[in-house]
Amino acid sequence: ASLQASKPTYLNQNKSISKSLQPKASFKVAILGAAGGIGQPLSLLIKMSPLVSSLHLYDIANVKGVAADLSHCNTPSKVLDFTGPSELADSLKGVDLVVIPAGVPRKPGMTRDDLFNINAGIVKTLIEAVADNCPEALICIISNPVNSTVPIAAEVLKQKGVCDPKKLFGVTTLDVVRANRFVAEKKNLRLIDVDVPVIGGHAGITILPLLSKTKPSVTFTKEEIEELTVRIQNAGTEVVEAKAGAGSATLSMAYAAARFVESSLRALDGDGDVFECSYVQSELTELPFFASRVKLGRKGVEAVISADLQGLTDYEEKALEALKPELKASIEKGVAFVQKQT
Ligand code: NAD
Ligand code: LMR
Repeated sequence: ASLQASKPTYLNQNKSISKSLQPKASFKVAILGAAGGIGQPLSLLIKMSPLVSSLHLYDIANVKGVAADLSHCNTPSKVLDFTGPSELADSLKGVDLVVIPAGVPRKPGMTRDDLFNINAGIVKTLIEAVADNCPEALICIISNPVNSTVPIAAEVLKQKGVCDPKKLFGVTTLDVVRANRFVAEKKNLRLIDVDVPVIGGHAGITILPLLSKTKPSVTFTKEEIEELTVRIQNAGTEVVEAKAGAGSATLSMAYAAARFVESSLRALDGDGDVFECSYVQSELTELPFFASRVKLGRKGVEAVISADLQGLTDYEEKALEALKPELKASIEKGVAFVQKQT
């Protein structure tokens, strides 16, 4: 079978994605920060999606070469390049989904919050342009600290009068990908079968894998729970340290974001059985933003899934309470950043 006709099954490890839907190329996707460590492999993976007709690559530099290179792949989408603020608006016109991996990554010794000073302003500027040029698009934010950049985006969209909370996502798929991988390894499970919901946020202890909700049902010792939880929470730092100053996760992140984008596009295209974890505006807890499983539909978030929060173990209950103050502070920091500038 030709590549155009085949479904990229490597992206479809999420078994909730309907196998029966015939994909078709029709959606326009913009990647802001497309020339970066995540941006390039993510652009490649999205170029392979049969659901995409047009791929708009935006960055402040080096994007022409990336786009020329990628445009030779004989998959359906056409590739357009946009460089610098003067071309930002054009990169967003008519777009159905925007992914944002723009911003600086961590170096060893840094927390994600240490990126706030640079990345908050980058995300704010990009979201202003999204609000002006494609206010109906789904927005998927990768730039860290996600716990704050998503509230920043929401606040900008509100101020512009175009906030649809159902269309704004913090991409936390990498936490799920890692949890699935580490649990499958530890318990000797078939990777394709494993699904671990990860809730809370995307930094340190705010990342809370719900191991008790692992599918297929599996039992863990106390030691295994502690070890797996801590490894999943510190997996980003594991990569930052291994890269020793050259950045953070890029390839696994591109893989995870491509899965989230593909799921979102399938949902936009009418697949009624698409679930992903994401950091969204939420009423599941007293916090205004919270990561959990969500059902994706034609208009973005169709439902925030509350079932995962019922029947938590004592360990998970305690971890949930423990993460709230940090997550709350990160949300408030993001909102205050936008409010104090207006
Ligand atoms: P990188 O430095 O390799 O690439 C970032 C890209 O953003 C560069 O090409 C740069 O030119 C571009 N950029 C900078 N300012 C811009 C602007 N104003 N407009 C458009 N583009 C701009 O970094 P990376 O490794 O690709 O990481 C990017 C971000 O993703 C970091 O903040 C990192 O912490 C975050 N990240 C998040 C997750 C997650 O799970 N959500 C995982 C990994 C990395
Ligand atoms: C990750 O989880 O890999 C990213 O958030 C990048 C980082 O800084 O750890």
